[in-house]
Amino acid sequence: MRTNTLGEVMPGTSPGQLLAIPPTMPQHTPAGVVGNTPLLWIGTPFCGPQQGFWAKLEGHNPGGIKDRTALYMVERARERGELAPGATIVESTSGTLGLGLALAGITYGHPVELVTDPGMEPLMARLLAAYGAVVHTVTEPHPTGGWQQARRDRVGELLADDPTAFCPDQYNNPDNVAAYAPLAHELIAQVGRIDTLVVTVGTGGHSAGVSRTLREFFPYLRVVGVDTIGSTIFGQPALPRIMRGLGSSIHPRNVDYGTFDEVHWVDPAQAVRTSRTLASSHYASGGWSVGAVATVARWLSRTSPATERIIAIFPDGPQRYFDTVFNDEYCSERGLLDQPLLRAPGEIAEPGERVVTRWTRCTQVHDPREGASTTFAGAGEVRR
Ligand SMILES: Cc1ncc(COP(=O)(O)O)c(C=O)c1O
Repeated sequence: MRTNTLGEVMPGTSPGQLLAIPPTMPQHTPAGVVGNTPLLWIGTPFCGPQQGFWAKLEGHNPGGIKDRTALYMVERARERGELAPGATIVESTSGTLGLGLALAGITYGHPVELVTDPGMEPLMARLLAAYGAVVHTVTEPHPTGGWQQARRDRVGELLADDPTAFCPDQYNNPDNVAAYAPLAHELIAQVGRIDTLVVTVGTGGHSAGVSRTLREFFPYLRVVGVDTIGSTIFGQPALPRIMRGLGSSIHPRNVDYGTFDEVHWVDPAQAVRTSRTLASSHYASGGWSVGAVATVARWLSRTSPATERIIAIFPDGPQRYFDTVFNDEYCSERGLLDQPLLRAPGEIAEPGERVVTRWTRCTQVHDPREGASTTFAGAGEVRR
């Protein structure tokens, strides 16, 4: 006999009775199963007693959170005539958008060519190839713009070679923001009121899109952005980064700086330990970005009033991280397993105060492109 979380007997559980819970609708195309992802309560033992947050499990999409935006950007480009029937889609990706574009390519009949860098997990490269995408790997980082700029330069070359090819340009395309309105509506349908949204930031797409729609319903929503140390998005200098998905070495135009009440930079050791703890305690985990966003959501659940309803978006699941986050050898070689876990972040008053190397928060959020040059102690001069 099945019971719900309140211990009540669920209908339709005796033999021969039809299950009364409406199943999700059968779908004729793989794109049809994107969205309507589950929301899971993350309480004890990951969080303290009477504490916790809701996790939106975007890893339940066929590829991950970016299935939503890949399909939307391709559909809009086809409608506008920017993407002709059968033309090639070319994009720079660290993986998740690539999975979504492979899905969009299969759905709408477009070849897909993806540009990545050596940091892409071999498993992900094989998966993308299995889904029919061609994967190009750049071999050298750009001298100032890092791997991301090197990837974008390669995309430019591929577009120049094929004038009919289309690049969704996830960093600057407003459709990458608009694509996330349905995710916000799902959250409202699932929990009603929302007080705090905790989101990772890479291109800025899902943080901007989900918060914009949620604020139409909850004007006082608090939005907490989660980045990685070494990322330039919120005004820190570019440093070598091992966390993938979140963070950037460029300044994507889709980041909506005005939406954030505070930002946290999370370090990889913290993210690894958090992802692992989540996996063993709640069977819901992911990689770098899930570890980072859950680190911050757990701290918020400890430091906010008990009535605060906190939502954290988990962009994908753990599968692609078995050779990194969940691999002891990989983590030990990089000293990720022997650093003490922090219970709370450090704090800086301004993003330009100093270079952060461990989990740190800041309640002043600005667009770094609007500032003058900043000198960071220990990092030389950083020109914005
Ligand atoms: C695993 C993962 N987490 C987080 C993000 C950040 O999402 P966004 O690009 O919407 O800011 C991405 C983006 O690629 C991602 O792949």
